[in-house]
Amino acid sequence: MAARTGERDRCVTGVEGLDTILYGGIPRTNTVLLTGSCGTGKTSLALEFLIHGAMKGENSLFISVTENSEKLLANIIPYKFFDKGLIKSGRLVFIDLPIMYERLGLNKSELSMEEIDLLVSSLTSLAEELGTRRLVIDSVTSVCYKLKTSEKIRDFILKISKSLSDLDCTSILVGELPAGSESYSSFGVEEAIADGIIIMANMERRGDLLRTLQVIKMRGTMHSRARYVLDLTPMGVLLVPLLKGGSTA
Ligand SMILES: Nc1ncnc2c1ncn2[C@@H]1O[C@H](COP(=O)(O)OP(=O)(O)OP(=O)(O)O)[C@@H](O)[C@H]1O
Ligand SMILES: [Mg+2]
Repeated sequence: MAARTGERDRCVTGVEGLDTILYGGIPRTNTVLLTGSCGTGKTSLALEFLIHGAMKGENSLFISVTENSEKLLANIIPYKFFDKGLIKSGRLVFIDLPIMYERLGLNKSELSMEEIDLLVSSLTSLAEELGTRRLVIDSVTSVCYKLKTSEKIRDFILKISKSLSDLDCTSILVGELPAGSESYSSFGVEEAIADGIIIMANMERRGDLLRTLQVIKMRGTMHSRARYVLDLTPMGVLLVPLLKGGSTA
């Protein structure tokens, strides 16, 4: 039925509100750029997406680039539903990319095209080996700093997106933006390639600093384009429409 109507299979994020905004979840195999300035909740949201996947039996992989994953786990919001057994059972795996760089001899400030291919094939093999259905790279911006040129960044994102999609994997690439940035990505090329863009931001309202989330594009589905207020809670990320959230502030 789904195939006949052209309706794409959904990767239900499990994040309250987000699946409604996306009319059922992220279309499976999409690569989504989750981008925003510091402290907006990018890592929390991306991790919650993986935890819900792992809870449903989907192998999930967090590739940590910016923070050491042990430190990340120690600092992250203590989600009530996060059973550490998911890590022990291998349903949820954390990999530190700097360790992988070292093993592959990629511990340098600029990667060549051949080295980008090596990085992509190593990440793809790892995802394949682990049977990964949900993957997060936090952050892809840190990887891009090693690529330097727009051509190499485009090449890397295109190749990694295609390889992961071929593995039937739904991915979130976390992007970092300077505060007050008007654009959707640091290098200006990531947003054109990604299948979806979700923007997270800090917004001052009546003396409060609110966190907001807005889906800018999502290939393969209708979605709300409204801005939502995001609350980080131990029960998970909560989203309410901005007007309602703002008026209660
Ligand atoms: N243990 C905790 N308990 C309650 N709130 C927490 C906890 N850890 C983090 N937070 C909240 O989450 C915020 C950071 O969220 P998160 O790390 O997901 O954002 P980010 O956008 O990934 O940040 P960065 O730009 O540093 O990568 C903190 O500023 C804090 O408000
Ligand atoms: Mg983060």
